[in-house]
Amino acid sequence: METLDTLLNKVSYPKLSDPIPSKTQMETAYKAAFRSPDHGRLRPWRFIEIKGNGREKLGLAFKNAAKRNGEQDEDKLTRFENLPMRSPMVIVLITKINEKTSIPVTEQIQSTAVAAQNISLALFDMGFGVYWRTGSFVTNKNKYLNEEMNIDADSEVIGYLYVGSPDIKAKEIPILNQDDFVQYWD
Ligand SMILES: Cc1cc2nc3c(=O)[nH]c(=O)nc-3n(C[C@H](O)[C@H](O)[C@H](O)COP(=O)(O)O)c2cc1C
Repeated sequence: METLDTLLNKVSYPKLSDPIPSKTQMETAYKAAFRSPDHGRLRPWRFIEIKGNGREKLGLAFKNAAKRNGEQDEDKLTRFENLPMRSPMVIVLITKINEKTSIPVTEQIQSTAVAAQNISLALFDMGFGVYWRTGSFVTNKNKYLNEEMNIDADSEVIGYLYVGSPDIKAKEIPILNQDDFVQYWD
């Protein structure tokens, strides 16, 4: 696909199944991530690539973090445990926060977000589907999450890319009016 075709046609797919990207295809996707704009070359982006039984481990971490956060409803806890099973692969998006620099933490998180979008675009270009989700299981919403996921305290889980192959047709891309979003100063 041409770059602009990818940019203009990318949609998110909430329903995903096998096959997942190969190791080589993921290497390309991470190379795209590492091209994210990065103030001060802090390289703040970290990822955990989860597939197969790894998803059960992630589900257990969600369940335990929710429990420690006070959730007692067994139905909800089971639902949390099953969240990672919504796709055959999940990529955890993490920012390794550097507080010793003058570069604001928000910029470090923004760089991770762009890296995530680069991964999404690269995978879409290869014919895969991606759905970016946050929900309750991000560091700033659950203070027990890092410990349950075995992630350093100086790092922030900012979201998840659910990855796989689309089993539904791409939805229509909404047509938005440019003038609702863009101002012009001449
Ligand atoms: C940072 C971020 C977090 C998101 N979190 C969720 C989420 O938790 N649940 C959800 O349904 N969509 C979430 N979305 C939105 C979807 O990924 C998707 O963009 C949206 O459904 C619109 O679809 P489209 O990308 O095909 O236009 C999030 C998007 C971003 C950028």
